[in-house]
Amino acid sequence: MSIERTLVLVKPDGVQRGLTGTILSRIEAKGYRLAELKQVEASRELLEKHYEEHVGKPFYEPLVEFMLSGPVVAAVFEGHRVIEGFRSLAGTTDPTIAAPGTIRGDFGRDWGVKVQQNLVHGSDSAESAEREIGIWFA
Ligand code: TYD
Ligand code: MG
Repeated sequence: MSIERTLVLVKPDGVQRGLTGTILSRIEAKGYRLAELKQVEASRELLEKHYEEHVGKPFYEPLVEFMLSGPVVAAVFEGHRVIEGFRSLAGTTDPTIAAPGTIRGDFGRDWGVKVQQNLVHGSDSAESAEREIGIWFA
């Protein structure tokens, strides 16, 4: 059995709405271990590294601007299959259609803005997780 790690971000909408504790507690309640935690005001440089796979997409600039709009809570969670487990708990990208019971489905909606404000980020693969943890917890 291998212990996996994933990067979780509570995005500025989640922090601003006071949902940080609720979101972290759901992840812990599912059984994953909180290994690292901090609140950060991310720089544009850090966010450009984090979202480099999305450069050139129509939502890229609004996404970076949104992530710069307030503090972000960065965490590392550990556990067997935590990467897919957290993505399942987060729900699909679009919060309007994310399943009820998921973080995005229960707390998110479309606010009519250019970027999907969907409360959380979770790494999508082991390679992404190691890369992203290196960026946020250098
Ligand atoms: P992506 O990595 O595809 O989604 P996820 O966060 O589920 O891994 O996209 C990164 C973020 O970009 C996403 O959380 C919200 C935003 N985004 C949009 O605003 N519109 C879109 O059409 C997509 C695909 C993403
Ligand atoms: Mg992604």
